[in-house]
Amino acid sequence: MNEQTIFQLLKKTKEKALAVYSKFHVSAVLVTKSNELITGINIESSSYGLTICAERVALFKALSEGYREFDRIYIMSDLPVPCPPCGACRQVLMDYAPDIKVIMYSDNGQKDGALLKDLLPRNFPGPKS
Ligand code: THU
Repeated sequence: MNEQTIFQLLKKTKEKALAVYSKFHVSAVLVTKSNELITGINIESSSYGLTICAERVALFKALSEGYREFDRIYIMSDLPVPCPPCGACRQVLMDYAPDIKVIMYSDNGQKDGALLKDLLPRNFPGPKS
């Protein structure tokens, strides 16, 4: 999949976001090490705090399907600039995909990228560490 195809997939996926409360639509495309693409949208609840972000939906879908190794995650939101993932998503990504690359697109095509490790320095390593 080339970048243009991923960009179009992010746009199409974002249309499916269930964001009736915030009206802020987010999509994610998670790419496994074996090159599978798993999409996610934000899904909001009438009890607002139960809302889940697009990044975690994509990750949980993938984990639930048995994928364990991830190369990168793409994110798109309604913002006119690339939108980095929230702190909660950074932590959960760190738990399951510490070496992942994060690529952010605005829907007008601006792009930014970072390693998750750089987005979450001195991260909580878990109680077993
Ligand atoms: N949201 C995401 O999907 N990903 C993020 O990284 C930040 C926020 C969603 C949650 C909620 O549905 C809406 O954006 C507004 O916060």
